[in-house]
Amino acid sequence: MVEAFAVASGKGGVGKTTSTLALGMALSDRYDVTVVDADTGMANLLFHTGLDGVETTLHDVLGSDVPVSAAVYERFGMRVVPCGTSLSGFRRVDPDRLRGVVATLARDTDVMLLDSAPALGAKSAVLPVVLADRVVVVVQPTIPSLSDALKVQEYATAYGTSIAGVLFNRVQPTDPIERISDSASRYFDGPIIGRIPERPSPQAARRAGKPVLAHAPESTVAMAYREAAEQLEIRSGDGTKIADRFQSAVIPEQP
Ligand SMILES: Nc1ncnc2c1ncn2[C@@H]1O[C@H](COP(=O)(O)OP(=O)(O)OP(=O)(O)O)[C@@H](O)[C@H]1O
Ligand SMILES: [Mg+2]
Repeated sequence: MVEAFAVASGKGGVGKTTSTLALGMALSDRYDVTVVDADTGMANLLFHTGLDGVETTLHDVLGSDVPVSAAVYERFGMRVVPCGTSLSGFRRVDPDRLRGVVATLARDTDVMLLDSAPALGAKSAVLPVVLADRVVVVVQPTIPSLSDALKVQEYATAYGTSIAGVLFNRVQPTDPIERISDSASRYFDGPIIGRIPERPSPQAARRAGKPVLAHAPESTVAMAYREAAEQLEIRSGDGTKIADRFQSAVIPEQP
């Protein structure tokens, strides 16, 4: 059984990496979870998981013949595939190889979460959305953030990837959340799965090199993420068939 989710957004800095790890940890109570830093140009998942000192990352896998198993680290009850941050590592990356990596990982997990790059201007940014079964769209509750996120939906739909849900993050008490939620319900093809408040815990967790559910498990943010994860009903699929589908996915030349 496997389902792959891209965690994506229109704008940067809305909390994709924080959310990927938080949803992953919440789901790891019930499922075998693999998280992949598919933001190969601006990777930061390694800093959120204390993996910034590791030798082998996704850059090595996508840039040479290193098997993906060499870049898988067991952390926080999940399998974590971090990506490096060097420009030389990024230059060596062949984005098309991500297909094979996802296919290999899919054979041996229940849930895969692909942390994605913001915006859809580059091939490496759109790939996770193209490869995933469904997308979790992370949005800050503002109209510009929402309208950028709609472009992610448009793109996903064009490639047959459905919307798992909209996750509001960094919600401030002054945000017109009801009005924005109404608009989101009207325009998005998936439910609103959660509203995560703006709080200090995610930044403290990031500084400690841990996902927020590990650093502050009883925090309001951690509880809100656990509730959001409950809304994602994981669908079962045949791991081998799904792996074959990833392997043969058509990758757009021009996003
Ligand atoms: N609910 C929250 N409350 C307060 N700060 C948050 C919250 N969620 C995330 N942050 C902080 O916002 C910053 C951006 O978060 P994160 O790195 O997860 O975003 P991102 O969408 O992955 O960014 P990028 O587009 O650069 O990859 C981080 O400093 C993180 O700690
Ligand atoms: Mg990120």
